[in-house]
Amino acid sequence: MKNVELRNIKKIYKTGKIEYEALKGVDLKINKGEFIAIVGPSGSGKTTLLNLIGCLDNITSGKIFLEEEDISLLKPKELTELRRKKIGFIFQTFNLMPVLTVYENIEFPLFFSKISSKIRKEKVQSLIEELGLENVSKHRVSDISGGQQQRTAIGRALIKDPIIVLADEPTGNLDSETGMRIIELMKKLNIEKGVTFLFVTHDIMIMNYAEIVYKLRDGRIENEKCIRM
Ligand SMILES: Nc1ncnc2c1ncn2[C@@H]1O[C@H](COP(=O)(O)OP(=O)(O)OP(=O)(O)O)[C@@H](O)[C@H]1O
Ligand SMILES: [Mg+2]
Repeated sequence: MKNVELRNIKKIYKTGKIEYEALKGVDLKINKGEFIAIVGPSGSGKTTLLNLIGCLDNITSGKIFLEEEDISLLKPKELTELRRKKIGFIFQTFNLMPVLTVYENIEFPLFFSKISSKIRKEKVQSLIEELGLENVSKHRVSDISGGQQQRTAIGRALIKDPIIVLADEPTGNLDSETGMRIIELMKKLNIEKGVTFLFVTHDIMIMNYAEIVYKLRDGRIENEKCIRM
């Protein structure tokens, strides 16, 4: 089953009178359970692409389908709702709430859903165990290591059972060994839970974990599909 489909996506940024075409017609099909890396030089449009799939910005033209739903037809409010419920984000700078604990950060997205407090507790607790965060679950995220913060961010992304998890340089702020462990954890969650991951990276070691690598250059995808064995 297809999860995400992009058809001839263009994105033009306008700054005053200056227009810049950051994406020049991108077609992409992402199936459920794929583990995909996007690579490409700085300024090639990687973050732009992730933001569009993640309903964080409006496309200029083209169509994006998330589980068969054409999101280009949605109103801004509906787009926000879809993002909150269905898209997981992992950022380079973690973007966690520093005064909240690990537990509270992971629990946070569920406040937008109608889930009962009992089920909420069970879901958060089981994810905390899966991510190996039991020892720090009551710590504020400002007081834990970078690797633990990134695992918390993965928990926050996964708690809503997202259609896809989008990660922009998820290991960029970590030393290489911690970064490798984070990507191995993502791979494990991909295999065991079938979570679809799309991540941007500059790191060749990290890239090697992906089963599919797309190369972006100057707003276009260069290779049709580069599948690793
Ligand atoms: N909000 C914006 N307004 C105007 N131009 C923008 C905006 N965001 C990005 N751009 C431009 O669009 C192009 C693509 O940017 P994008 O951030 O997607 O690149 P990237 O591949 O993620 O780069 P990096 O590897 O440095 O993060 C760049 O030339 C950038 O300057
Ligand atoms: Mg970027």
